[in-house]
Amino acid sequence: MSDSKTEPWWKGATVYQIYPRSFADSNGDGIGDLNGVLRHLDYLQQLGVEALWLSPIFRSPMADAGYDVSDYRDIDPLFGSLADIDRLIAEAHARGIRLLLDFVPNHTSDQHPWFLESRSSRDNPKRDWYIWRDRPNNWRAALNAGSAWTWDAHTGQYYLHLFLPQQPDLNWRNPKVVAAMQDVLRFWLDRGVDGFRIDVAHCTGKDENFADEPRCLTHPLADFNDQAYSHEVLRGLRRVVEEYPGERVLVGEVNIRSSLQVLQYYGQGDELHMSFNFLPLDAQWDAGHFQACIGEIERLYEPADAWPTWVLSNHDNRRHRTRYGGSLARARAAAVMLLTLRGTPFIFQGEELGLEDAPITAETRVDPGGRDGCRAPIPWRAEPPHGWDGGRPWLPFPPQAGELAAERQQGAPGSVFELYRRLIEARRHSPALRLGGWAQLDAPPSVLAYRREHGGDRRIVVINYADQPLSCPLDGRWQVQIASDGGGEGQPYAGRLAASQALLLCPQDS
Ligand code: NOJ
Ligand code: CA
Repeated sequence: MSDSKTEPWWKGATVYQIYPRSFADSNGDGIGDLNGVLRHLDYLQQLGVEALWLSPIFRSPMADAGYDVSDYRDIDPLFGSLADIDRLIAEAHARGIRLLLDFVPNHTSDQHPWFLESRSSRDNPKRDWYIWRDRPNNWRAALNAGSAWTWDAHTGQYYLHLFLPQQPDLNWRNPKVVAAMQDVLRFWLDRGVDGFRIDVAHCTGKDENFADEPRCLTHPLADFNDQAYSHEVLRGLRRVVEEYPGERVLVGEVNIRSSLQVLQYYGQGDELHMSFNFLPLDAQWDAGHFQACIGEIERLYEPADAWPTWVLSNHDNRRHRTRYGGSLARARAAAVMLLTLRGTPFIFQGEELGLEDAPITAETRVDPGGRDGCRAPIPWRAEPPHGWDGGRPWLPFPPQAGELAAERQQGAPGSVFELYRRLIEARRHSPALRLGGWAQLDAPPSVLAYRREHGGDRRIVVINYADQPLSCPLDGRWQVQIASDGGGEGQPYAGRLAASQALLLCPQDS
């Protein structure tokens, strides 16, 4: 059985995703920045998260909000400077919080000096750092960008971009690209970062024949990008992080909906340490849906010794409270589920406040992919402008910004923030929740019940997905440690659940 003392830190950690543009603004230009993050480290420490993942902060023309990098070794002036990130790393570490950066290997910005050289002439030494062809195939780009090939009149060829035309794909079959990008990792590892989230980790290895996709999929993240060579690329990146002490970690975005295929990206323990599991991002608020997706991960990952991740919201999808029909009760019950499953939970900034997506109009829309709603700024203060003093934030605030503002919720008994804080704390102190096995228990339809166990430590979780009360008797004597709605905490579990209620139970008198 795994021992909590010898397991790597990232298995037991709760990770918090920061979308820097929308987190906190320190200089009044309406755009969140690194010093904004620095000023809220106490908030994050109070919440109890053990690691932060920052969406891209590198120099970028911002065609795709920073996922179009023009210099991997510098901070975009919108977000601050190298001195600011160094300070942030040091201050986070001083609080026991690790920091992961977002590594974008599949493509650069079209303004990256490598691409400017590559497109300057056919015989430029960097020509084959990107993917140039005389004829396009039928691949489609993501983000509503049409064909994945853009014509370059100056050199008379097409270049490949699985995303926007401003995001040309790197040619990872070129060893010089591999070496240059591995050095980017070293640059940041030397500065002390604890690892990386890897953007579309399954896309670097293209089909060498560039065959037409027979189903003519309109989404390039589909499995035709799942090529053996991407695994080789990841093994190389893994070797780089292993040059460094301290259990640096690689978490990959393998945006494929087949768990079996995603599992292959853990390799033989020599590729990703963890891959995002996106099944719950698609699941409805429904016991059967969650039972199916949790069951699938347990069935495949546990025997393979691959450590799962759990994600309900991120910067690319509608927030889960919004997806669950706006119900705060459901969002609160979902928090109990997220933080008690077997695997590393990822919290997307603002979900600990119960935020919903901001309504976006044609005037406020920024993202070509239409993902602005979940990227709305965090309301820190109840009074407008909610802690975003000076410039108007780049996107409108989410609904109920005053009511759900962080200052209203921190330390307020019964708030969503306090629910997350207490769940993270409970997880931290329970080997069963951090590292224990997962087993489903018999329960009526509309209820999901599971047991977590490690050594002598045991917990049970019961979640009622229905909008009416239900009974769910359990063997043994249990007591309510945390209730999503606060109901009955510290009392013996009486075998009943309120509507949309989730309970974390511990053995009675423990
Ligand atoms: C996945 C990122 O999460 C998304 O925001 C981005 O647009 C694409 N990769 C392209 O980098
Ligand atoms: Ca700013």
